[in-house]
Amino acid sequence: MTGPSSHQAQPNWIAGQPVGSDDVLEVVHPWDGRLAGRVSLATPEQVETAVAGAYAVRGAAAALPAHVRADALTHVHKRLIERADEIARLITAESGKPLKWSRAEVNRAASVFRLASEEARRWSGELQRLDTDPGGAGRVAMIQRVPRGPVLGVAPFNFPLNLVAHKIAPAIAVGAPIVLKPAPKTPLSALLLGELLAETDLSAGMVSVVVVPNERAADLVADPRLPVVSFTGSGPVGWAIRDAVPRKHVTLELGGNAAAVVCPDWSSDADLDWAASRIATFANYQAGQSCVSVQRVLVDRSVADRFLDRLVAAVRALRTGDPWDETTDVGPLIDLAAAERVEEWVREAVTAGATLLTGGMRDGATVAPTVLADVPVGVKLSCEEVFGPVLTVATVDGVTDAFAAVNDSRYGLQAGVFTHDLRVAFRAQVELEVGGVIVGDVPSYRGDQMPYGGVKESGVGREGVRSAMEDLTHEKVMVLAQLS
Ligand code: SIN
Repeated sequence: MTGPSSHQAQPNWIAGQPVGSDDVLEVVHPWDGRLAGRVSLATPEQVETAVAGAYAVRGAAAALPAHVRADALTHVHKRLIERADEIARLITAESGKPLKWSRAEVNRAASVFRLASEEARRWSGELQRLDTDPGGAGRVAMIQRVPRGPVLGVAPFNFPLNLVAHKIAPAIAVGAPIVLKPAPKTPLSALLLGELLAETDLSAGMVSVVVVPNERAADLVADPRLPVVSFTGSGPVGWAIRDAVPRKHVTLELGGNAAAVVCPDWSSDADLDWAASRIATFANYQAGQSCVSVQRVLVDRSVADRFLDRLVAAVRALRTGDPWDETTDVGPLIDLAAAERVEEWVREAVTAGATLLTGGMRDGATVAPTVLADVPVGVKLSCEEVFGPVLTVATVDGVTDAFAAVNDSRYGLQAGVFTHDLRVAFRAQVELEVGGVIVGDVPSYRGDQMPYGGVKESGVGREGVRSAMEDLTHEKVMVLAQLS
């Protein structure tokens, strides 16, 4: 490991202050199991200070002028860029993500803070005329969006910086205090973000980053002083949270088994090269551990043979190995158990009759990029979220058949449709049961400003800076009646 490996336990950020504890969690590097860092686990008293701090400043936070919120966000944007190399190394150390993808993640997180600072300045109310009916003559409604209240943000391990940024930046932009719980496997970059936030003029209490074991998260979820829960992670945990606190405002960004459709008109050599290269890359980036990594490919029979040759070649060309090597495309999964599960799912599919076109091997926590065809209905790879570097390919006959196959899933986050035909693109937006359709590219594309979220079991609510700001707030109306 060539990145950071601090033996000093990193403190939590409790209401803007660095606070250590005697309870220390060791963070290990998934590639070789070496120590990546040590962090303090927040004690129950420290968590109480964080929550009480958020609750205490909620009124002042909502009243903060836009320029104060925007300046704080701009500060973090700049600091992320200044410290980009160090932070990318931290992400790789804690998650095993190849360095080039960690660098991309830091850039995205910096953009999220910049976008949030821009939106904070734009964030305005709306005037609505009421004289549309006689009873409203002489009246006007002024509509503002105000924070629903302090937020509990729960972040996953797969984007340890950027998905934390997607919780914290919109909260600051609208003036909502936030208590952020990073994934215990990957808390290092979230704590560094806490340090950058502590450099700003935001009041103590506005942001806390608390490392809490998952078993202790239920108390935070239930705490009535945090009326908003924004969770990104696994389906079972997300839906259990929603069931546990039905009266809270809960946003869930959960998983999926994203599909890419290669349509009959996507047929030139250049078309097929592009689709194969994009699908190979985005089925395997960060070892498939993204909610929108490509899992299912539905290719039209008319182009299937030419496409498949290219796809398998593109997957085989990916470099698997040490995440510290700048040329590595595919690194380890988050831990051995995750890799063993993926290996077992591949074995199950092959035993049931699937054809292994490439991959299928595991070495420690690393699974070779894998492509399977003829995957029988009912095996886990056909219907669950693999969250690993595995692609299944099926041949379809026409767009109607392809769209039916996309929708034949419990999930619905994003779908990619490779077509030049605008009629197919419009049909896709209407017919596909997903939160986002990407035409001409993979479902894994995400612009951090665009609405992002799922339907069906992929979640409720939307992130993306502006959408998250709307989600964290509710409309409040003031009627101005003409004074006589
Ligand atoms: C996710 O895994 O849900 C996030 C994907 C992304 O931000 O690119």
